[in-house]
Amino acid sequence: MSFVPVAKVGDIPEGQVRIAWVEGHPVAVFNVGGAFYVMDDVCSHDGGPVAEGPLEGFEIECPRHGARFDIRSGKPLSLPATAPVAVHRVRVVGDAVEVALGVGDSSAVGSGDEGGVSSGSASESPSPVSPDETPRNENENPNTQNPNGSATASPSDGVAPSQQEIAVRSALEGVMDPEIGLSVIDLGLIRELHFFPDRTLVRMMLTTPFCPYAPQMMEDVKNATMGVIALPTEVEIMPDAWSPQLMPDPSLLGFSY
Ligand code: FES
Repeated sequence: MSFVPVAKVGDIPEGQVRIAWVEGHPVAVFNVGGAFYVMDDVCSHDGGPVAEGPLEGFEIECPRHGARFDIRSGKPLSLPATAPVAVHRVRVVGDAVEVALGVGDSSAVGSGDEGGVSSGSASESPSPVSPDETPRNENENPNTQNPNGSATASPSDGVAPSQQEIAVRSALEGVMDPEIGLSVIDLGLIRELHFFPDRTLVRMMLTTPFCPYAPQMMEDVKNATMGVIALPTEVEIMPDAWSPQLMPDPSLLGFSY
């Protein structure tokens, strides 16, 4: 791929980003500490523009759902993104910042290199920055016995899970979060299971507040639970903020926090 001029050095002050189009493709050109970095302006989460969000050091935060990326490598640093954003080679020739698409390897070039530095002399990029509800009523207190004497169970109360709970959790291992490609159990989204004489209540979290797959996941959770317990199932979304620390094994995400 050939280099294409996208801006003048002075057009992109330190700590700023400029969106450019290269061969019909939107890219974000960042200036961090006087060096330039180029990443697709396409978020790997939902395909939206990513570079309009806040830039902090080498981290850009997508304005849509808050995923963060390392602009040097394109690696995701937080959910809901799990895939990298493509990065591209950049060089400075004279006072022109030039970008070559499709190299798949971001390189930084200092703005002091205006003397006609070739792409091959691009400097090494730094290492990537590793990036309860109050009971609704006495019949639904998650942590007590209901007046009918049917035990309720909460996975977080330290009590050994019942056979019912084990069976339901096992079934829920087949319910995937399609955004992340892990099950609701692996993600630690299923926080509480309550077994009432006439119904089952599942209280779960979402990885992001406005997860577009929430309705489908709730339906899948409901159906999987009813496949084990032949009673109506109610699925309730908890308002609590999810974090990878709630996962039984956060390393399944493939990146660290
Ligand atoms: S589109 Fe970027 S985090 Fe969702």
